Amino acid sequence: MTNAIKTPEQIAKMRTAGRLAAEVLEMIGDYVVPGTTTEALNQRCHDHIVNVQKAIPACLGYRGFPKSICTSVNEVICHGIPSENKVLKKGDIINIDVTVIKDGWYGDTSKMYCVGKPAPHAERLVKITQECLYRAIDIVRPGTTLGDIGHTIQQHAESNYYSVVKDFCGHGIGDEFHSEPQILHYGKPGTGQILEQGMTFTIEPMLNAGKPGSKVLRDGWTAVTVDRRLSAQWEHTMAVTANGVEILTARNEESF
Ligand code: MF3
Ligand code: CO
Ligand code: CO
Repeated sequence: MTNAIKTPEQIAKMRTAGRLAAEVLEMIGDYVVPGTTTEALNQRCHDHIVNVQKAIPACLGYRGFPKSICTSVNEVICHGIPSENKVLKKGDIINIDVTVIKDGWYGDTSKMYCVGKPAPHAERLVKITQECLYRAIDIVRPGTTLGDIGHTIQQHAESNYYSVVKDFCGHGIGDEFHSEPQILHYGKPGTGQILEQGMTFTIEPMLNAGKPGSKVLRDGWTAVTVDRRLSAQWEHTMAVTANGVEILTARNEESF
């Protein structure tokens, strides 16, 4: 579907899907502990989505992706594939990215978890990346441009000596997983498309501790930093309202 503006009824369906995706992230937190595997986390999320939520894990089978969530540990930027061989250890940082389809509509969200106590430099990267998402969300309203969003993220990242990943971006979302427009996490103020009430999209900044470059491993999915230094990502799905934004994937721990 090419119509980027959603009706209130359509946004209501996205609110339901978004809430379910957020609930998966709330549910899984207690299980992100040393010694578990990313496949065990995948199975728990899959079972919750399918059996409890009676919903569909959008990642499973999407362009051949083999699992129900993405699990991206340490130097993995995004699209990490859960595996029984990937055992989490103290000090790891992991992004879990969940997309749920309910009644034909999508909710897409991710957060970072620390396994045990993180090193101060890892904790700082995680925190600044979350601040980039929150600062971008703060300016979303009718009249803001996509360049304003990208600039806000890039400015906060680079002023903290981190780099913004340019090879992946946020996206329009609705009754399709990925649609126009692309939401770049870098840019110039006042440039690009102007936001309007009823637009729905994700913002999902990825920040690297070192160089911004990425490389996809031979599994065809796992994107890692070129210098193998740490990367972090946070994601929300949102709708532009008359005066601001509604976060469709907000968790109870957040206050918007
Ligand atoms: N959830 C990811 C996003 O934020 C997309 C994952 S696609 C998959 O857009 F195939 F890797 F699951
Ligand atoms: Co997304
Ligand atoms: Co996602």
